[in-house]
Amino acid sequence: MAFVFMQRELAARKEQSLLRQRQCIDSAAGALIEVAGQHFINFSSNDYLGMRRSAEVAQAWVDGISEYGGGSGASPLVTGYTKAHRELEDYLAAGLGRDKVLLFNSGFAANQAICQALLQVDSELIADKLIHASLIDGAQSCDGKLVRYRHNDVEHLEQVLAKSSQVTDKLVATEGIFSMDGDRAPLEAMLPIVTKHQAWLMLDDAHGMGVLGAHGLGTAEALSLSQQQLPILMGTFGKAIGTAGAFVAGSAELIDYLINFSRHYIYSTAMPAAQAHATTASLITLQKPQRRELLLQRITQFKQLAQRAGITLLPSDSAIQAVLVGSAEQALKISDKLKSLGIWATAIRYPTVPKGTDRLRLTLSSLHQEQDIQALIDALQLSLHVKD
Ligand SMILES: Cc1ncc(COP(=O)(O)O)c(C=O)c1O
Repeated sequence: MAFVFMQRELAARKEQSLLRQRQCIDSAAGALIEVAGQHFINFSSNDYLGMRRSAEVAQAWVDGISEYGGGSGASPLVTGYTKAHRELEDYLAAGLGRDKVLLFNSGFAANQAICQALLQVDSELIADKLIHASLIDGAQSCDGKLVRYRHNDVEHLEQVLAKSSQVTDKLVATEGIFSMDGDRAPLEAMLPIVTKHQAWLMLDDAHGMGVLGAHGLGTAEALSLSQQQLPILMGTFGKAIGTAGAFVAGSAELIDYLINFSRHYIYSTAMPAAQAHATTASLITLQKPQRRELLLQRITQFKQLAQRAGITLLPSDSAIQAVLVGSAEQALKISDKLKSLGIWATAIRYPTVPKGTDRLRLTLSSLHQEQDIQALIDALQLSLHVKD
């Protein structure tokens, strides 16, 4: 029998409380979701600023579809690249002070594209231990070598770089806000080290876009990181921006290289123009700080209430707040108990996070009301030590 490993591996996952199953969301309104006829306050969405269902994004999708149609009809190098794509690229390039920007269908594709196009024989990707799976997979499937340094450990990064002194093409990769822990990379401390060792810095700012920076352009805007300091910036639109897709920003040479050599870009249908149009509308809306300010209030409120309730959180000032629970089984139990109390908080388990760091990953949003945060705290107090 062919492919018998599937049955075996699915059974093993079930046995270890690691089986993944999808839940169909029947409807959503504000911070509420409806699943199988029940309503929950959603604390598991990356829509940190409520842009996904905002009037601005919805209207721009409708306008974009009426102008450009449902899909782009071709890959970007054929006839799939439109005025809407160019406007989004130009908006980001101008706002971020980059020569050029290139759009991808997802952050996963963008990260893989960077690895595939740049990591040739004798090059290295030196990545934070907690870097996203798309970069790990990207690096492992190309000719370059993948080296890891301990999470946010600048000294270890320096040691790793020192060992790679013979390597000419070195890319140091980290995240603006780490997706599962919610903490930030120590970029200001990393920059002089990366420069000293003549490496390039790459930032995956999937979770910083929209929520950081005076105009919501993420970590690079918040820290005024120039193109020279940060030669490769990747950001995604599927989280706080409320649409989908991703971009890479950098020098004209980098972007021209990707246009010519990135297989993920060349051999894939361009993102729908309407999506690019809606994304630009979202970014323009997010120039105003109100949604970010509201999110910050919710984060502060949550952290204060959690501390008062004796709930231990991983260190994070972002919308991503994690409660470690130690085992996959316990994470599932707590998540189920929270559901019975009207709170949706997905258990995040190995291999998404390292073994033994199974957790509840709680994501806060400007859509949450004060009473939603209080309800979450109350439910956590009742759930965290649940046995059956
Ligand atoms: C840090 C990080 N990078 C990249 C991605 C992939 O982005 P996308 O969802 O657009 O494929 C994600 C999303 O899960 C992420 O959290």
